[in-house]
Amino acid sequence: MKHRVTLIPGDGIGPEVSEAARKIVNASGVDIDWDVVEAGSAFINKYGTPLPHTVIESIKENKVALKGPITTPVGKGFRSVNVTLRKSLNLYANVRPIKSYAGVKSRYENIDLVIFRENTEDLYAGIEHMINDEIAESIKVISKSASRKIVKAAFEYAVNNGRKKVTAVHKANIMKLSDGLFLRTAKEVAKDYNNIEFENVIVDAMSMKLVLNPEKYDVLVMPNLYGDILSDMASGLVGGLGLVPGANIGEDAAIFEPAHGSAPDIAGQNKANPTAIILSSAMMLKYLGERKSADRIERSVEIVLNEGKYFTPDLGGNSTTDEFTQAIISKLKYII
Ligand code: NAI
Repeated sequence: MKHRVTLIPGDGIGPEVSEAARKIVNASGVDIDWDVVEAGSAFINKYGTPLPHTVIESIKENKVALKGPITTPVGKGFRSVNVTLRKSLNLYANVRPIKSYAGVKSRYENIDLVIFRENTEDLYAGIEHMINDEIAESIKVISKSASRKIVKAAFEYAVNNGRKKVTAVHKANIMKLSDGLFLRTAKEVAKDYNNIEFENVIVDAMSMKLVLNPEKYDVLVMPNLYGDILSDMASGLVGGLGLVPGANIGEDAAIFEPAHGSAPDIAGQNKANPTAIILSSAMMLKYLGERKSADRIERSVEIVLNEGKYFTPDLGGNSTTDEFTQAIISKLKYII
């Protein structure tokens, strides 16, 4: 079956790593018609905005996008493209699988957890104002409906992927109303899933537990801000952002993208690690129902990482993005 997918190469290292993913997906044999659209700070002069309306239209039409990172300038100016995309397409679930590879140097082994981060509200609702010149106020919004949706998504994932436990992360001891509502809702949803173990952990304790014994965790679900912080922290446990894929999923559309940013310090040098976006493209293929090709890509990445012959500089090697990509394509041929 042919799929039409929006491809947003992004800026910084985005074009290099997304080209690597496109080559690998094509080599896996899935028939994809790529609808390539431009977004990011590199295109502000061309379109007068980093997010031309054609980008959202393309995603609405195709329903699935693979996206490279996009630079968000700090301070005033345009709103983050990433936040705008997630909000305008109502991509309520940010999903980040964190997995360790035996060949990649890390203090930990056997980590295999998945973080479900609520993606539309909390302190990211963008409700901020100055009370006076010296006091700013940001409002944290937590709703029962959004909490229910993200917790349900985490449990459904657990059921469909043979996972055993869901851990809800919160700070309900202090934010009794907002996080209290999230936790109450999580407990209610958990009652519908008797075969999955459920526990809840306060976010500060969770940070410590993840650093001490990350291998004990399976599926984690949490509001937006804690998810933002813990998912980057957990990436560090397995060797860095260059390895960790991600998905933003809603009811009508989904965007698959790496966890890392545009890495301006190494852009254009053919040395970025494309693993994160390659694994994101494998998540995308599963979403499209192309599970076999997705598994082949994941397996090839695993073999190349465990062999350790083609590491990019972030993993301590001196291979280029292209050499690493080629190594994965070569393995694909032998995996049925
Ligand atoms: P970053 O993730 O771009 O870079 C942090 C460090 O990790 C840098 O030293 C970089 O070289 C390295 N790194 C990141 N990805 C790598 C890869 N694939 N291979 C090898 N090394 C890699 O984070 P930073 O510098 O905080 O953000 C840069 C820009 O990206 C900012 O404007 C930020 O807002 C944006 N950003 C965009 C995201 C997105 O589009 N989803 C996500 C995160 C940040």
